Amino acid sequence: MTLNKIAYSAFIAFMASLFTMVSVNALSSGERDEAADDELDAITLDELAEHDGAESCWKAIHGRVYDVTDYIPDHPTDEEIMLEWCGREATEGWDNKRPGVPHSPRADGMLEEYLVGRLVDEEGEPFESEAATEPSDTVSQDTDTDEARLSPVDDERLHRALLGLPLDGRYRGVFSDGGEMQVNVQFDLRDGRLSNVSYRHLAYRGVDYLALEEGDELYPVMVQHQQITERLEGEPVTRVFALYEPERMVDDIDGYSGATLRGNKVISAIRDALNRGVYSWP
Ligand code: HEM
Repeated sequence: MTLNKIAYSAFIAFMASLFTMVSVNALSSGERDEAADDELDAITLDELAEHDGAESCWKAIHGRVYDVTDYIPDHPTDEEIMLEWCGREATEGWDNKRPGVPHSPRADGMLEEYLVGRLVDEEGEPFESEAATEPSDTVSQDTDTDEARLSPVDDERLHRALLGLPLDGRYRGVFSDGGEMQVNVQFDLRDGRLSNVSYRHLAYRGVDYLALEEGDELYPVMVQHQQITERLEGEPVTRVFALYEPERMVDDIDGYSGATLRGNKVISAIRDALNRGVYSWP
């Protein structure tokens, strides 16, 4: 009986502390959501500028300052892209991760965790950046609408659903059309990220692109396909969907090469590989 009583008291004490923890948490996260700008620490441009590197990286975005030091290794690009904006007003970079393409609502939601204050000018007044007040040439006026934010090329949730979270391993897949194998791609997946992306075959209308030499008329198209593999390196597998807009992945899309570059064939080959399943376990 006594044992039962002890167990019962322990259970009640546990539930009470759990309840307290949950309520404190709810309260504090509620407070954070509602935090008005003037309750946040005022941070000047000079103070911001002291945190301009990988050891401490603060960024001002839409009037608020974020300490994103810990997030840098997790950001889905090379570190340089993140580091370039440390210690400064970074709204322009935030709203244009690619020209005219803002970060996703999911990324917006992540910022809160890194909030450290609000940006003020020398008089202590809220600092208004040009990027935040004047729409830049490259940013479409519509980028704030749900329609623009949920463009299929940017919708990370849609991408994950389409790919069905594949296993890690080595993959091979092809794109064939008109009786001809055009793309045969091989890559490794580790923690959902691509590596060692390479073409085992790349051809169109009987031309073997991998055998082309500098100076050949079609050589630039092969270079662009190589850029695709380089730029997918280390990226989450969902990044392949950006290839529906190849200008987001490769340099110098001019009239000629834009017409011949087929990012969507590479997407097809990669999705074929994922459908086939793991080819080997490297
Ligand atoms: C201001 C400087 C920044 C620049 C220039 C930048 C640039 C980029 C680029 C180039 C991509 C990948 C390409 C793409 O999705 O089209 C990307 C994706 C992403 N970035 Fe950033 N980034 C910046 C800051 C941040 C910060 C501070 C966070 C979060 C704390 C963040 C979170 C993300 C996330 C979650 C993605 C995945 C795609 C998305 O959700 O939009 N980025 N960023």
